[in-house]
Parts: sequence; structure tokens; C-alpha cells
Amino acid sequence: MSGIARTNATGGEGMLPELLAWSSSLQFDRALVREDLLGSAAHVTMLSRVGLVPLADATLLRKELLAMHAAAETGAFALADGEEDVHMAVEAELGARLGASVAGRLHTARSRNDQVALDLRMHVREQARLSLLACLALLRQLTERAAAEHHVLLPAYTHRQRAQPTTAGFLLAAWASSLARGAELLAFTLERADRCPLGAGACSGSSLPIDRTLTARLLGFSSPTVNALDTVGDRDFALDFAWAAARVLLSLSRLSTDVIDYATSEFGFVKLDGGIAAGSSMMPQKKNPDMFELVRGESSRAVGNVVSLLTLVKGLPTGYNRDLQEDRRPLLDTAPLLLGALRAVSLSLPHVHFDGTRTAAALADGSTQATDLAEALVQHKGVPFREAYKAVGALVRHALDAGVTLRALSVAEAQVFHPAFDAPVLASLDPAEAAARKKSIGGTGAVEPQLEALRSEADRLAAIAARIPSLASLAARIAEEPLA
Ligand code: ARG
Repeated sequence: MSGIARTNATGGEGMLPELLAWSSSLQFDRALVREDLLGSAAHVTMLSRVGLVPLADATLLRKELLAMHAAAETGAFALADGEEDVHMAVEAELGARLGASVAGRLHTARSRNDQVALDLRMHVREQARLSLLACLALLRQLTERAAAEHHVLLPAYTHRQRAQPTTAGFLLAAWASSLARGAELLAFTLERADRCPLGAGACSGSSLPIDRTLTARLLGFSSPTVNALDTVGDRDFALDFAWAAARVLLSLSRLSTDVIDYATSEFGFVKLDGGIAAGSSMMPQKKNPDMFELVRGESSRAVGNVVSLLTLVKGLPTGYNRDLQEDRRPLLDTAPLLLGALRAVSLSLPHVHFDGTRTAAALADGSTQATDLAEALVQHKGVPFREAYKAVGALVRHALDAGVTLRALSVAEAQVFHPAFDAPVLASLDPAEAAARKKSIGGTGAVEPQLEALRSEADRLAAIAARIPSLASLAARIAEEPLA
């Protein structure tokens, strides 16, 4: 990185070479080259249409930019080192191909400040779209598995203590519900990023007769941004994406912790098959849940990225500040992190198998059905809840002292603690019954409507994703636009 090109933009002859090298962002923002090339192709189309660049030059420029973009799409385009950032590197490459006087027309009515804001928005829009699609695929996977495994009994936990009888399907639906909220934030990110910064210039627009609506349309945005000064310093869209990604990863992290715990021999609720179980280099017996531990571990970086971006933006004055170049690392890290974790969880889950015998055994003694017993007294015998709660509590203690399970107690024994206990009331200790009877909205016995709601939420969010043009589709749209 010693020989960074000296341009007027970088400060010309006077700039110390070491500092020129240190301040370069090319190693990070070369990842934005496709966005940058498309933005320039749309920009030169607009410049030609409003008469700011002669048709012949615009034709050459757009053709070359789109050829470079096509090469970048296949990975066959390498930007040379030695420029300060991706914007200068593209301009230098264009100069080498078309000559400086033609290439020198491209930057009319544009600053790197609106250019980088555009590149970043296009990156966020594409990556949030892809992330949303991956999220929705996992959401559907969880939903359909929940439907298929709703018969597998499973204790639910509060305070990591066995609480009440539920099912594997109910837990899967809980994971899916959490993921759906993260997916909704990705959709929100897409809707909020839908404004085109191009034409904001350095900070206050342009005196030239540019057409911001045309560039916005060519780049697949609904409209231009509202205020040029706000636009060049605005990274809210990056924050929205980082926050949405962190939220999805927190869901995946929690899911992972459940799987990791349930795979221990202490719980024994799930078995990991050979497709995902990692071994130990020392302990021959080990089958470790490494994939889920990695997802949980990686999610911490997503939290760090949100904090980095928040801290970066906080305290900056209105307008563009070079500090903003530091958005590159946390932002560009976000999409691969999120997509990688979504893929890992989606691939791993089919290799996680509930052990229905172990999960049912955890509910067999009836203690997790104590609340159901109290509710049966309320519902069938009209006993006030607090009275029923105390009677069942006394019964539980009695069973513990006697060293027997709640379900082994006779009606006569139970009636010592409350006269309203009878055989039908004690039948509520059956875990399957207890799970099925919770038919209140959101309850274990009402999973089908939850799954229906998740399916329609997935459809609603997929429709939002479908309205966003893919990055790859923009080249054709720009190429078709008349230059005159
Ligand atoms: N490399 C810069 C960034 O990423 C581009 C904008 C630079 N603008 C400037 N006036 N120096 O933010």
C-alpha cells in the first residue's frame, strides 16, 4: 500500500505517502465495485440525457462501465491497488481504457460523498434482500417441522427448571416466531433504504441541471433522498441492517443454546447425527454441537458491529465526515456473517433429532402438570385459584416426602388435601392432555393457528423482498435506457 496514486482528490503532491496509504479504504471498499460501476453507469446515462455529457462520450463510458460490471459479476474484474478508494480506482481504470478526457466527464455533478452513500445503500439493499430470503427459507423450514413434530412431548423451561408440558412443535414454533420478527426488521431495512442518494453531491446538490429522479429510477429506488446535506452523512440504513442482522443472529444464538443444552447427556432431548456432530481430538467418545456453538459465538460479532456503527455516527456533525469511511468494516462484515449463520442453522437442523422417549420421560412424574391440576380444580370444581394452588402445592410436597410421583397418588390420598380432587381432575396430570388443553391464543394446544400466522407472515415478507430488484438485474435496466 505504499504507492497510492496522488490525485487532486487525495490532496495532490503535498500529501505524505505514508498517510495516503494509511488513509486508503480500497482494501475494504473494493467489495463495492459492482455497486459503484452500476451507479456510474446510471449517472452517465442521466448526464447524457440532460445534455451534460456528449452522446458519443456517454456511449463509450456507459459501454465500458457495463463491460467492467459484467466482468465483476463473474469475478473476472480486478481493480488495481494504488488508489485511495474504489471510486478513484474505477475512474483511474476508465481513464486507462478510454483516455483521461472522456473518463474525466463522469464525475460531473457528483462527489465521492454521494457516491459512497449510494454504493453502501445498494449494498445494504442487495444484502438485506438476500438475507431476508434466507431468513424466510429457514422460517418456513422451522414452521413445517413444527407441524410435523407437534406430537413429541417436551417440557418447557422457566429459570432453566422444568416448568410445563409442551411439544417439540411448540418449541420449533417459538424459534420460528422469534426469527419472523428479525425477518420483519430486514424487510423494514429494505423499505427504509429505498431512497437514492445520487445527486446530493458533496453536501448541497448541484447547480447543473441533473435529473435525480431518472438516476433513482435506473437504480431501482422509488425516489431520490430528500435533503442533500442529510444524505451525505446519513448511515441510518447501515444501522438498520446491522440491527436487523444482530436481531436475527440473537434468535439463532438462542436456538443454538437450546440445541446445545438439549444435546447434553444431562438433558438427552436431542441426538445429533454424524452430519453435524464434531469430534474431539482427544476424547474418543465426544459428539460435540460445534455448529451451534459457532453460530452462538459469531452472533457476538453482529452485536459488536451495531455498537461500532452507533459509536461511529454518534457525535459527528451534520454533513460528510471522513470518519464515515470506518463504516466499511462493520457493515461489510454483516451480510456474510448473517448469511453464513442462517445457512449453517438451516443445514444443521435436519441432523438434530428429538428423542421422544427421553422428552416424555421428563414429564412422566407429573410434577410439571401441577398447574394443570390446579386449573382443573378451578375449571371443573369452581375452586378459587389460590386455594387450588395451595392444595396442589401441599399434594406435591406430600408426594415428594413419600418418595412417589404425583401421578401415582390415589384419589383418596389426594382428597386429604382438598375434597374436590377426583379421578377426572387427576386425569389432568397426563402430559399430552395438559399440553393439548392449553387452547388459549399462543398456547401449546393452539399451535396450528400459530403456524398459519407464520406462513402468512413469510408470504407477506417474501412479497416485500420480491419488489426489490436484484443488483444483477440493474445492468440490463440501465443499458436499455436511451442516452438521448
Ligand atoms: N473513501 C471515502 C469514504 O469511504 C469516500 C468519500 C471521500 N470523500 C472525501 N471527501 N474525502 O467515505
